[in-house]
Amino acid sequence: MALPLPNQGFRARGFMIHSTRRLRPRWIAASKADGTLIWRWRNDPEARRQSFSQARFGLRHSMEWLGEKLLDPRCAILMAVVGRRKLGQARLELIAPAAAQVSISVAPQARGRGLGTWMLSHLPRSVGGKPIRRYVAEIKPGNVASVVAFVKAGFEFSARRRRRGEEACVLEKSLT
Ligand SMILES: CC(C)(COP(=O)(O)OP(=O)(O)OC[C@H]1O[C@@H](n2cnc3c(N)ncnc32)[C@H](O)[C@@H]1OP(=O)(O)O)[C@@H](O)C(=O)NCCC(=O)NCCS
Repeated sequence: MALPLPNQGFRARGFMIHSTRRLRPRWIAASKADGTLIWRWRNDPEARRQSFSQARFGLRHSMEWLGEKLLDPRCAILMAVVGRRKLGQARLELIAPAAAQVSISVAPQARGRGLGTWMLSHLPRSVGGKPIRRYVAEIKPGNVASVVAFVKAGFEFSARRRRRGEEACVLEKSLT
């Protein structure tokens, strides 16, 4: 199967196959208006199962959290849009100079169609004006869809560690 190369666009699968013209995902900056969507995806059973913090967040808590993150210059939150639909979210947080921790989620109805791989292949190269040279992600070893998407986007396994009492795979991608 062909790998989704950067700038190649969306693969001819899933909702794209049913569209009358070629839909390419694009990024837009998240805003407070995306709060309900992000909250819903965060509380989706599969997303909670794969998160290191499985608590169910209330909408108000989630909106406050988003408001703080949107003001934080060390954090960038982006929404992946396909056609007119927001179908994915990526969050990058600076953890060291030029290094960002990456976390993504795809709308439940859009999973397994290549969007997560596209998002991870097209991550922004700066956060708050600071250039990024290395992306880091921590993933539960059993989160196969996530591991596959990260690896297809060029991430490599770098370590195993404990996070909140659970095993985590660390995957990294360096920009040349
Ligand atoms: C993980 C997630 C972001 C991946 O996004 P996605 O759009 O579904 O991923 P993609 O379709 O790009 O790729 C998934 C790949 O995993 C494969 N896959 C999924 N489950 C699999 C399994 N059990 N065994 C083997 N491969 C599997 C898919 O076939 C696909 O590979 P393919 O493109 O070669 O067919 C999405 O599923 C999600 O939001 N999950 C819940 C939240 C989460 O886990 N976030 C990640 C934490 S960092």
